[in-house]
Amino acid sequence: MSDAKRTLVMDDPVEHSLLDGAQGVIGRPIDRVDGPLKVSGRATYAAEYALDDLAYGYLVAAPFGRGTVLGLDVEAAKAMPGVIDVVIDYETFLRNAQQGGETEAPEQGVREVAYFREPVAIVVAETYEQARAAGERLAVEGDRKPGLYSVADRLGEADKAPSGGAVEPHFANGDLDAAMAAAPVTVDVTYTTPSQNSAAMEPHASTACWGDDGLTLYGSYQMPASDREQLADAIGLEVDQVRIVSAYVGGGFGSKLGIAPESVAAAVAAKKLGRPVKAVMTRQQVFDATVRRSDTHQRVRLAATADGQLTGIGHDTICSNLPGEDFFEPAGTATHFLYAAPNRTIRHDMVRVNRVLSGSMRAPGEAVGMLALECAIDELAEKLGLDPVELRKRNEPERDPQKDVAFSSRRLVDCLDEGARRFGWAERNATPGALRRGEWLVGHGMAASARSNKLKSSEARVAVTADGRAVVETDMTDIGTGTYTILAQIAGEMLGLPLDRVEVRLGDNCFPPGAGSGGSWGAGSSGSSVYLACEGLRERLADRLGCAVDELTLKDGAAICANRQVALAELAGDGLATTGRIEAGKLDDALRQASYGAHFCEVHVNMVTGESRVRRWTSVFAAGRILNEKTARSQCLGGIVFGLGAALTEELFHDVRTGKIVNRDLAEYHVPVHADVPPIEVVFLPERDAYANPLQSKGIGELGISGAGAAVANAIYNATGVRVRDFPLTLDELLDGLPPV
Ligand code: MOS
Repeated sequence: MSDAKRTLVMDDPVEHSLLDGAQGVIGRPIDRVDGPLKVSGRATYAAEYALDDLAYGYLVAAPFGRGTVLGLDVEAAKAMPGVIDVVIDYETFLRNAQQGGETEAPEQGVREVAYFREPVAIVVAETYEQARAAGERLAVEGDRKPGLYSVADRLGEADKAPSGGAVEPHFANGDLDAAMAAAPVTVDVTYTTPSQNSAAMEPHASTACWGDDGLTLYGSYQMPASDREQLADAIGLEVDQVRIVSAYVGGGFGSKLGIAPESVAAAVAAKKLGRPVKAVMTRQQVFDATVRRSDTHQRVRLAATADGQLTGIGHDTICSNLPGEDFFEPAGTATHFLYAAPNRTIRHDMVRVNRVLSGSMRAPGEAVGMLALECAIDELAEKLGLDPVELRKRNEPERDPQKDVAFSSRRLVDCLDEGARRFGWAERNATPGALRRGEWLVGHGMAASARSNKLKSSEARVAVTADGRAVVETDMTDIGTGTYTILAQIAGEMLGLPLDRVEVRLGDNCFPPGAGSGGSWGAGSSGSSVYLACEGLRERLADRLGCAVDELTLKDGAAICANRQVALAELAGDGLATTGRIEAGKLDDALRQASYGAHFCEVHVNMVTGESRVRRWTSVFAAGRILNEKTARSQCLGGIVFGLGAALTEELFHDVRTGKIVNRDLAEYHVPVHADVPPIEVVFLPERDAYANPLQSKGIGELGISGAGAAVANAIYNATGVRVRDFPLTLDELLDGLPPV
């Protein structure tokens, strides 16, 4: 097969996209191509690889929140049925390497425990149950030290968050204090949000085996290209000695961006035993030892003229993380660009705490930051006596107010207008607590949605085979988002093939390094690499056909030029392959790139019990070209449901004496269930963003959650007249303020 390469750095817009092609498969609400495999149990997940001679590993947790491990009662464990070994000489005590694809190695050689139930060893046995029984009973002796467990008591100790994250920790324009002092109308309020867990459906799992070439690890990861580097680093191998296979992933939401402790433990145990080892986390271990979303404490200050023109915006945020860790929750991200105002202050400070590592969880930054910002805007609207939709429209910036650059595309106002129209916003009763149905108070709320758009380097190889099919290969993942399907659609559109003649192979380091799934960049980045590969192939096919590429039409497996038509199989000879590579370029900084939307909802609050029920929902989004109307909609639905959880139920409780997570399962950590979710209307406005990538698409995976919880909180306020600023808005916080039935 003849191979070539094509690279594009996004320095210039791609005004003419080849996705507006002849095949007509792009954008359509096509069912997931991997759907039948999944519903019939034939999609193999990390914990399902049946290798010969497999042994089972179970992580052992430190029974204290801070201190030094002195010893483990290995002999007692080994005396238990089926136990093969307790592996501690891999210098466990590994933290997740974690975060956004950066390749920091987990700390090695550390016997200090930094959080309660930090993994300190792995028990390996002939069966999973035997390993678990021994692992749960293994005595861990430690020198316990006083830890830093409370955040609330130590907010005064918050320090500037480290530089180098998603946003600069401290930013200021103009003079906010002066703006606040001079403004006729101001808001100065503090919102808090709790720690959360991604709680992906599939627990973290790794099956490790060693061969002559090194380590193969079947794992559940979002970003195999960087996870491989982390794993190699952690166990002292060259990158090409590690192969991660992550073909199907049952959700991640950030918790699988980096490697989790069970991966290194399984790899080292497998090496020591000379047998493959499978280590699957229990649901409780997922809560205990993968990343949490940080709790936040957010002060929002708004200054406005009497007619609702913002003159100042302040967003001072505090999050928490382990001592020495760099990640901070970038809660002020959207505040940088959502509304105009000449005087702006955005700060990110951090409290150090001995709680499980905090890291990225779906829409890190916007998801919690917009809870505060979008509720505060609602509070301002009420003070001004202005409709909250109108207030937002009056503060629509023409250019990015922080960087003073143009927006690549921005249809926020259209989303607000279309959402209001569809929802019937004009008919709402603006007076809080004024609408009753029986014992239910009825309220309506809305919020804007925004999520930064990013492009990440990505490679994919696309081959046209001798029998006229296309094969797409990249180590990009499908974490439930629809990657298999949309990459097939992109290749099908550009090569003129129906989808049953396109095969997509993902999640394996033996394929070119893809962007991975994270930060809403997955589809745009990996899709662009497929696009470029196909663009290269189109040129080569045109060449073989003897026509100019812009006169070439590819449709239904045929190449057509002027009055000639040749089957793709014939043109391909013994096969043609091109590797496409996309990289972010000047347009990343030269413009502000983000996706936008608007949420509207109706919430009923029971006057007797205080419970809140979301009854109706409309969201309108504009996120560039929609690659598949069905998978895109599913992403938005999932994000909105996530937002319901953030507003109403989700909260990790840490025991302030030990840092221990108290509610470490899905019975006690409450995510929304079917009965909590109303019918949700999701609408996409047509949009193309030539500055984002050759697909002209923008990120959508984290757009739905952004702002969603604020719409719920604002509706609860409208229903009850009770403004709760401490998320989640549980019934106990409402009851006192409710009127008698
Ligand atoms: Mo996302 S929190 O980058 O999976």
